[in-house]
Amino acid sequence: MTSTDREGAARELLAFYREAGVDALLEETPTDRFATDRPSAVPAPRAEAARAKGEASSARAAPTRERELPGRVAAAVAVSPEAAVMAAREAAKSAASLEELRALLERFEGCALRTTATQLVFADGNPQARVMFVGEAPGRDEDIEGLPFVGRSGKLLDRMMAAIGLDRTSAYIANIVPWRPPGNRTPTPQESAICLPFMLRQIELADPDILICLGNPSTQTLLNSKEGILKTRGRWFPFHTGTREIRAMATLHPAYLLRQPLQKRLAWRDFLAIKKALAT
Ligand code: URA
Repeated sequence: MTSTDREGAARELLAFYREAGVDALLEETPTDRFATDRPSAVPAPRAEAARAKGEASSARAAPTRERELPGRVAAAVAVSPEAAVMAAREAAKSAASLEELRALLERFEGCALRTTATQLVFADGNPQARVMFVGEAPGRDEDIEGLPFVGRSGKLLDRMMAAIGLDRTSAYIANIVPWRPPGNRTPTPQESAICLPFMLRQIELADPDILICLGNPSTQTLLNSKEGILKTRGRWFPFHTGTREIRAMATLHPAYLLRQPLQKRLAWRDFLAIKKALAT
């Protein structure tokens, strides 16, 4: 093969990767994700730093108890989805605080998305806030920074929140799935189901008064709705956190609003309803 042939073959391979959704290189050398003696997940320095900055300031957050957390929770890929859901339920139930839940998720190997993501994207904002927003899954920017909604749609979410007097000190923000799906694809129902017990426990531990689902996957997963977001949005639903009943509403995802700016008027109505609910 000449060097021109090799270059052509490399270009074709890269084009194939791009079409398949591979848009970021993670490591210089390949990793055998199926090796059984692979060490369990590496801690994420950027997320650790962000956590130290954000969650350390939370006065109402439950104190981290000095106790052993399981070293590995469900081996990656090797277990069936049903076993992964069971392991997720067990692990999530055992978390006594948001810090413990985060630590358990860092070690949870039941969701294969963790193997392609750079790091866990757990939450941002104030866990003591009265309102919690739940999106779909981290995108590229979130995967890099280790925080939810920091990219273009995050900037729009910040503006929408600001319009009703909210910011990241008065709102808590997370995603149904805490790892970036490759190429920003929608998480599969199976991936959402595996991560759901962690999200339900996160809601229970954060204990907001108002829960806002951003977009369809979050709405369908948390509110059990079969209808599309345009039908479901803007209405209040009762939501059982496990300890009490709160109010939940679905609204349009900021990424959708970036593509369909005319629909912002619907989101504006929803945000006014949120503002009113927070005033009571
Ligand atoms: N979209 C989401 O649903 N969540 C993020 O964190 C970013 C974009």
